[in-house]
Amino acid sequence: MTKKEDEPTGMRKGLVNYGDAGFSLFLRKAFIKGSGLTDNALERPVIGITDTGSGYNPCHGNMPQLVEAVQRGIMLAGGLPVKFPTISIGESFAAPTSMYLRNLMSMDTEEMLRAQPMDAVVLIGGCDKTVPAQLMGAASAGLPAIQLITGSMLTGSHRGETVGACTDCRRYWARFRAEEIDAQEISDVNNQLVPSVGTCSVMGTASTMACIAEALGMTVPGGASPPAVTSARMRVAEQTGAVAVQIAKSRLTIDKVLTEKAFENAMRVLLAIGGSTNAIVHLTAIAGRLGFEVDLQALDRMGRETPVLVDLKPSGAHYMEHFDAAGGMPALLRELKPLLHLDALTVTGRTLGEELERAAPPFPQDVIRPRDQPIYPQGGIAVLRGNLAPGGAIIKQSAADPKLMEHEGRAVVFEGLEDLASRIDSEDLDVAADDILVLKNIGPKGAPGMPEAGYIPLPRKLARQGVKDMVRISDGRMSGTAFGTIVLHVTPESAIGGPLGQVRNGDRIRLSVEKREISLLVSDEELARRAKADPVTEPSADRGYRKLFLTTVTQADKGVDFDFLAAPETRGRVPKS
Ligand code: FES
Ligand code: MG
Repeated sequence: MTKKEDEPTGMRKGLVNYGDAGFSLFLRKAFIKGSGLTDNALERPVIGITDTGSGYNPCHGNMPQLVEAVQRGIMLAGGLPVKFPTISIGESFAAPTSMYLRNLMSMDTEEMLRAQPMDAVVLIGGCDKTVPAQLMGAASAGLPAIQLITGSMLTGSHRGETVGACTDCRRYWARFRAEEIDAQEISDVNNQLVPSVGTCSVMGTASTMACIAEALGMTVPGGASPPAVTSARMRVAEQTGAVAVQIAKSRLTIDKVLTEKAFENAMRVLLAIGGSTNAIVHLTAIAGRLGFEVDLQALDRMGRETPVLVDLKPSGAHYMEHFDAAGGMPALLRELKPLLHLDALTVTGRTLGEELERAAPPFPQDVIRPRDQPIYPQGGIAVLRGNLAPGGAIIKQSAADPKLMEHEGRAVVFEGLEDLASRIDSEDLDVAADDILVLKNIGPKGAPGMPEAGYIPLPRKLARQGVKDMVRISDGRMSGTAFGTIVLHVTPESAIGGPLGQVRNGDRIRLSVEKREISLLVSDEELARRAKADPVTEPSADRGYRKLFLTTVTQADKGVDFDFLAAPETRGRVPKS
């Protein structure tokens, strides 16, 4: 493809609608020259670079080095790099939850891409919500775009054991709660869990979205896995800059990469890596920006024929740096080849199949398994339905206790986060190991922002008795780094009148992962009676972003995006089969 002569580029882009285009360009050039640029620099393709560094986001702590390497790549390839800031969201420091801000970041990204003159953009993201937000925004803006991942953090070492954020954070904290380790040890391990800048080192949401971005064809090959502090990561950044110039010249817009086939490849990868449940919500939102609906039932069918091959925590044993050393995404994609659309186009201008032909040959390693020796025979995530979740719910079966996946028990209900916090550790709590913990009001509108509170802690008195897992159900999400028999994303949520809101203490609930069922064993009549006796008042706000959020946010099955941000027309469903 070659650029058409009449298409405005670089500094000329966006100027054609002004009354006097010549004067507008003259002014714009004068002002950009204030940065010290010469006319020569302005004759090149302009490549925007989103700088998402922030003191509140150590997962993006290598941003200055990444930006420098991207700029170098762009200049070596003959482009003009222009970095600009957008919002940054770090998981640990965003209240009420980072998810509450994801759509805001996507809007910021979309509008800055639209507003500022650029021929292509390098999106730099890493921490959980940033890559989805950037892909959502860029998909809506429609420019040529390429994703650069900040990269994972290194692992630490605690008394001879490899540790990393944040599966081990949870594991050690659970041990501390159970009084298995003392204050000194929990303090020691705290120094080791995050030993460098970069994203969480397990297959949590950040790593999952990195792998998904590569599976979508949005990164350079092998771009998902090099750790943040490595020279390999910087070389990926330089390469990304060069490819950005290429896609600017060839006008390879994002919709040519983010096709139905790309989304199906991404879903296949999500299942095969035992990835974070959050990625389903994010993929749904990204696809929605391009008019594709995610078919959860079809995703579940896809899951039944997709083995988990990547042996990373929380489903397995290793960390991202090991995945990288084992060959990273190209090695995994080669193993998944028969299940992928190899003709899907990637940002390099080559298809996924062509890229795999060019990838390094396989070598013996024990992190990425061959298909006939999976670590889990079916995909990591199962989609559940039943009268408790008419719009669906999900469970990460690869990270759950096999003994609890067929289970019926008595509901122990918490009305919300405050109720949970005030009673979960009470010695008087009427709870036994085979009960089912139910937490309401943590859905998209409930908390709001669908926080990762679905990982309900085990009641302290049971933890002390050695209980390691229980069935837990909520309309919230859970961190991709968590482990347990945890049913999430119950749709519709309790705060808007979903059946979850009608569960009472002592009700019986049945979970069957085999049958893909989540049922409240209470009659329809009784549920209708309860709904009438106890009508819900939907959460609302008087002003500001919270008002926008509460009035327009969609349910989990629609990606928790704002309703007005999705593409106005549906183009199809993914996955197709
Ligand atoms: Fe940023 Fe985990 S906190 S990736
Ligand atoms: Mg996370």
